[in-house]
Amino acid sequence: MTKATHLECSLCHQRLEAGTVQNLCSCGGPLLVRYDLDKIRHRWRRREVPNGPSSMWRYAPVLPPAGNFIVTLGEGWTPLVRATRLGARMGADALWVKDEGLNPTGSFKARGLSCAISMCVALGVRKVAIPSAGNAASALAAYAATAGLESHIFMPRDVPQANYLECKAYGAHVTLVDGLISDCGRMVAERGPQEGWFDVSTLKEPYRIEGKKTMGYEVAEQRDWELPDAIFYPTGGGVGLIGMWKAFDEMERLGWIGSKRPKMISVQAEGCAPIVRAFEENEPRSRFFENAHTVAAGLRVPKALGDFLVLEAVRASGGAAVAVSDDEMLADGIQLATDEGIYAAPEGAACVSALRKLLASGLLKSTDRIVLYNTGSGLKYPEAYSTRFPRTAASEQDKLGGLITPR
Ligand SMILES: Cc1ncc(COP(=O)(O)O)c(C=O)c1O
Ligand SMILES: [Zn+2]
Repeated sequence: MTKATHLECSLCHQRLEAGTVQNLCSCGGPLLVRYDLDKIRHRWRRREVPNGPSSMWRYAPVLPPAGNFIVTLGEGWTPLVRATRLGARMGADALWVKDEGLNPTGSFKARGLSCAISMCVALGVRKVAIPSAGNAASALAAYAATAGLESHIFMPRDVPQANYLECKAYGAHVTLVDGLISDCGRMVAERGPQEGWFDVSTLKEPYRIEGKKTMGYEVAEQRDWELPDAIFYPTGGGVGLIGMWKAFDEMERLGWIGSKRPKMISVQAEGCAPIVRAFEENEPRSRFFENAHTVAAGLRVPKALGDFLVLEAVRASGGAAVAVSDDEMLADGIQLATDEGIYAAPEGAACVSALRKLLASGLLKSTDRIVLYNTGSGLKYPEAYSTRFPRTAASEQDKLGGLITPR
């Protein structure tokens, strides 16, 4: 069972009690869960990990203290697929894709929300609310449904249709907002307190990141406890990247890995690249990215609460932040599907485009061992990919309906 000792503010380092209902620190900083890793080190060896379940809960000793209240749909322990053909095409001899599209609700968001909803149940929270670019909403709705909680979801009106349909099917209360995820966040913050909703926004509660960090534990275990040379991660709020970085430190403290770290590559869309801009300008934090637009809905985050943590990890690792265009990510998504049989979300596909750029720039070399995170399934993005494969001319649309059900 978990040995969480306290919550620590990532800004002012104040300590708060673990296992309590918390949002941000009083200084506005995100809270991180800390564990007694020295104690865990003596009781839990890495060779024992495979005895655990085939889900992210195999790492339960370093996950939040949800006790008997684990709310799971089988998230995590996703395959790490060797991408030989794509690698040969790109000049990357040792390339893998960590395929998060196979998670419940089709994205890595399942990991964070399994953890957060487990803690809600353990702590007696009954109503939850989230602002989301799409996939976090689907995951929240699903885990709230299985836990019997009431969920309130705020998403941009032009969110992918799949996300909207899922949330409705899971019985969530859905509000479509004329604006971006930042506007949705404001609405949750304003209405939440009077409605009695617990705000599970990215990094505004301490437990989602704990689920996401398991992507870091898994890549180590699946590579026999040797981290790759580079990790590409499509970055919206950046929590997956921050979480993996935290996982690497924890694993080192557990004696499971050494001090070597992969170059962390933060991938964004040209139409919304606040982290890339801050990286290039050598700034510790990002600025709000005006007129954010991209088909990769999960990357449409104009200002992330944890931007400074992403930038710290990228810089400390000797990595980079790279922006790619929507055209590049869709073309590379199709290439990945054609070469490897993995139909990626545009967010995941963006990693392929970013890899091409960094091989060309010389930051990475052909012999580097590289892992791309495909954070979601392409099946959730028919609007984006159908721009590449229009089935019929606009004038033919009518006839198609007529063929299936004569009118
Ligand atoms: C498919 C997909 N990839 C990546 C992201 C970005 O995630 P993070 O907040 O960890 O940066 C999202 C967020 O919505 C997403 O849905
Ligand atoms: Zn603080």
